[in-house]
Amino acid sequence: MKPMNKNFLWGSSISGGQCEGGFSSRKETVVDIIPQGRETRFQYLDQPGIYLNRPEGFYPSQAGVEFYENYQEDIALFAKMGLKALRFSILWSRIFLDEKMEVNEEGLMFYDHVIDELLKYGIEPIITTIHFDMPLWVVEKYNGFSNRQTVDLYQKYVETIVNRYHDRVKYWISFCEINVMNHALYMVGGAILKPTDNREQVLHLCAYYKLLANAILVKTCHDIDSTLKVGCEVAGTPCYPLTSLPIDYALMIQNERSNNRYTDVMVKGKFPYYFLKEMQDYQIDMRPEDLQFLKENTLDFIAVSYYKSSLASHEDVQTNPCLDKTAFGWTIDPQGFRIMLNNMYERYEVPIMVVENGLGTYDTLENGQIHDDYRIEYLQKHIEQMELAIQDGVEIIGYLTWSAMDVVSTSEGMMSKRYGFIYVDRQDDGTGSLKRIPKDSFYWYQKLIQEKGE
Ligand code: BG6
Repeated sequence: MKPMNKNFLWGSSISGGQCEGGFSSRKETVVDIIPQGRETRFQYLDQPGIYLNRPEGFYPSQAGVEFYENYQEDIALFAKMGLKALRFSILWSRIFLDEKMEVNEEGLMFYDHVIDELLKYGIEPIITTIHFDMPLWVVEKYNGFSNRQTVDLYQKYVETIVNRYHDRVKYWISFCEINVMNHALYMVGGAILKPTDNREQVLHLCAYYKLLANAILVKTCHDIDSTLKVGCEVAGTPCYPLTSLPIDYALMIQNERSNNRYTDVMVKGKFPYYFLKEMQDYQIDMRPEDLQFLKENTLDFIAVSYYKSSLASHEDVQTNPCLDKTAFGWTIDPQGFRIMLNNMYERYEVPIMVVENGLGTYDTLENGQIHDDYRIEYLQKHIEQMELAIQDGVEIIGYLTWSAMDVVSTSEGMMSKRYGFIYVDRQDDGTGSLKRIPKDSFYWYQKLIQEKGE
């Protein structure tokens, strides 16, 4: 097998809303007001009305795993593991506390410290500007990205952070999994639906303005320093038809289009015909100058997450009967990873950075250790398939797992759904010492990076 490029970024990811805590020095974000619990959390993602009624209980995203206080200790562990890159996100709600949009210097300084600490160890910082954590004040006042004014606010936000950090941060990612907005409008679009709203209409508004906002990040970075590299993260989920019936194949295509439509605009700089038609159907105010702007400001690379594949079926079959599943029902499909990477590169021909891949499951602490051979096996198989994709000719510039350490899970708000190389002693109800314990996978990844990084 061809050796990996020496500059390949072996790394891992975390996000502010899932790890930071530090709640008293910032404002609320959309995920902060979602209580712990599988059912409740999903309801919150979209249903109108629930938002107004905040039940008592533990709000895990407000607490995170206290990276805000422990970042030095955590980064020292990441360095010990040998990470060459860390992707993290900035919380807008730490930089601008309200609609006055006056810069909160304390917030900017926190990320100065994080970046400097990473660079001290030679770890490449990769920043996501919004990772499911739209400030709540933007949601309450403007209904997130369903409103054009949010694009102007976003512009001010990214101008502030890019100006501040561009001398130390080369890779910028606008949004986390833009296409997940298809089913999580509240969390990804920052829009709350009213009972009278047409969901698809609001989705298309958010899509349009998020695409404009993405192009604004591209322009801001390139204007400040033409060598900065900008990507947007999409969830890479290959879809298989359940049967050879034409209807299942047609559904598969529909599924792929609804995922690819965002990347098409961000990389090719124009709307594919079906997306253009949808925008027209929903009477989105598409101005000629916007279309020109989108055309001129396209991505340098695609950031992609990969966890599972999906299924298209006209019957009520939700998951692929041919594949194993995790404890949380996510299909395990390493081969799908290679398929997805090839499909994506064939369609876009720009470098790809894998920014999330990992196994979320329960871990057991045994005599102060975590023997997570299941996670090692999962990652090993996925890395093998990624290497095959590289052999196929796909240009991949980095592989970052989810997640460097245990953080609050997004879908369920659980701590016990763990992805990290480092166990964090925090339980679902918020109890625990917060002690950090490297798992077996920590040492496995350390060795892998040493061997492959050479
Ligand atoms: C990705 C998100 O979708 O998947 C992360 O970017 C998330 O925020 C990860 O944590 C795993 O999903 P979950 O819901 O199991 O935490």
